[in-house]
Amino acid sequence: MTDQEATIRGNDGTNWFYSEEVKDHFFNPRNFLHHDEKFESNAMGKVGSPACGDEMIIWLKINKDEDKIIDCRWQTFGCGSAIASTSVLSEMVKENGGMKIDTALSLKPQEITDRLGGLPIRKIHCSVLGDKALQEALNDWFRKTGQYDRIITAGKKVIDKVLNITDRDIEEAILEGARTLEDVQDKLKVGIGDPEAIPQIEDLIKFYTEKYYG
Ligand code: FES
Repeated sequence: MTDQEATIRGNDGTNWFYSEEVKDHFFNPRNFLHHDEKFESNAMGKVGSPACGDEMIIWLKINKDEDKIIDCRWQTFGCGSAIASTSVLSEMVKENGGMKIDTALSLKPQEITDRLGGLPIRKIHCSVLGDKALQEALNDWFRKTGQYDRIITAGKKVIDKVLNITDRDIEEAILEGARTLEDVQDKLKVGIGDPEAIPQIEDLIKFYTEKYYG
């Protein structure tokens, strides 16, 4: 496939460029669990994307004594960007004999997109699905092994009390490409009826923009 063929024109007229790494992982996904394959895992995480409704499941094999992930498999009903990013994530987790759980917990979504040579901005929400499923699988492990103090919960917090808009809604708006208060308000109308919420909204925009785009 040529670079020209790999550039897809978005509905808004922008070009979406997929790197060679994205294409490689999309056409040859690593550690994908085929329907007829058996994989003995001891933890599983499943998440859905509020933006598109797609789903991701990750299974882990964890070595308790070494507190390390030693193997993993995954499946998704997501798009090419979700497939490529989870494929590369699964490689990162297994590299050099496996990844320590604390290292996996501190993985940044941008480390995954960097390894892929970038992704179109509109596809960033797809690339975090694998990372979120990995977090859920680790929570599953912590519950099963009684390590309750290590469980990370991403509870929702209402930010705009008039429209009942939460921090998760703002996170999704950032993942879909919003960068400024105006962008977020265009999507959500957040803070218009509850102006006292605006400083908190601006803090969340800064936090999620740094988290996902560096
Ligand atoms: S569009 Fe749903 S995961 Fe990419």
